[in-house]
Amino acid sequence: MNNSQREIITATVPILREHGVALTTHFYKRMFSHHPDLKNIFNMGNQKTGKQQQALAMAVLAYAEHIANPGVLLPELHRIGHKHVSLEIRPEHYPIVGNHLIASIKEVLGEAASLEILEAWEIAYNQLADLMMGIEAGIYKDQTNKKGGWTGWRPFRVKEKVKESDEITSFYLYPCDGENVISHIPGQFISLRVFLPDLGLNQARQYSVSSVPNEHYYRISVKKEFNPNLNINGMISNFLHDHIQTGDLVDLTAPIGNFTLEPKKACR
Ligand SMILES: Cc1cc2nc3c(=O)[nH]c(=O)nc-3n(C[C@H](O)[C@H](O)[C@H](O)COP(=O)(O)OP(=O)(O)OC[C@H]3O[C@@H](n4cnc5c(N)ncnc54)[C@H](O)[C@@H]3O)c2cc1C
Ligand code: HEM
Repeated sequence: MNNSQREIITATVPILREHGVALTTHFYKRMFSHHPDLKNIFNMGNQKTGKQQQALAMAVLAYAEHIANPGVLLPELHRIGHKHVSLEIRPEHYPIVGNHLIASIKEVLGEAASLEILEAWEIAYNQLADLMMGIEAGIYKDQTNKKGGWTGWRPFRVKEKVKESDEITSFYLYPCDGENVISHIPGQFISLRVFLPDLGLNQARQYSVSSVPNEHYYRISVKKEFNPNLNINGMISNFLHDHIQTGDLVDLTAPIGNFTLEPKKACR
């Protein structure tokens, strides 16, 4: 990226921020209409509430703001990388997001979006995507190299379902292949994916591993989510409580997350 492209990026960030809601709404609508399969990866609850809907596009703007010194964003990019790997985001997804983001910038800004502006944004996005793909490749490699390690979705059987309270139920999850699992670090989470017949989609959510670290199974403890003002149940937590029984299968990605307890400190 040359200096004049860097200047273009810096000058257009505030304009795009101003159009933040329009930009992200347009972006998701556009991307899902071309790639309805991606609805299986994104959280459709967030899409309805608008919560976190802006996270992806806003992170691109935040990166652009720090285009001269992207190093300051590295801790945040690692955190996002953990979330992405837990949802099995792969390099082939990045050009799809890039194309729809740049097209959305063009469509939302209209005539104000000159060729130079669009070209500079494409370069900025690709730089960020390269950085993220590199971080994620490292995390995928780490997961493969661990004892019991795997990447992507692995089928697990619910061996036990224990009601802890009116709101919380624990699920004991064992891998269907009978092999080892990664012994997690306290504080890490897994993503769990189920098929929701009402939606006709797979949906994934994150749950902290609540068992003691071991190589055979994971326990998760799920709170039934409910929005009393609108009388709306959370999709996955209620599906797990009401429909998933002992013997059923769910898909899990490997434990992940760097917000963990240090083993020595945990013992004191
Ligand atoms: C790292 C991490 C670890 C986690 N660990 C745990 C854990 O150990 N245990 C646990 O129980 N949870 C945990 N969570 C939260 C969990 O991932 C889910 O977010 C939670 O189960 C809710 O998912 P859901 O599908 O039931 O709700 P969603 O369908 O995603 O809905 C979320 C909320 O929005 C409301 N809502 C849905 N649709 C609408 C609408 N149209 N308008 C207004 N409101 C609406 C729902 O009532 C609900 O309260 C964790 C999350 C993260 C990120
Ligand atoms: C440079 C490009 C990208 C950036 C900057 C980015 C940024 C982000 C951020 C900030 C979050 C929120 C993390 C959190 O707080 O938990 C997020 C979540 C997510 N991202 Fe990305 N992302 C990028 C590319 C992608 C791609 C290519 C995909 C796949 C098509 C993707 C799919 C997701 C999904 C599914 C979530 C979880 C939120 C949800 O389910 O709605 N992202 N991303």
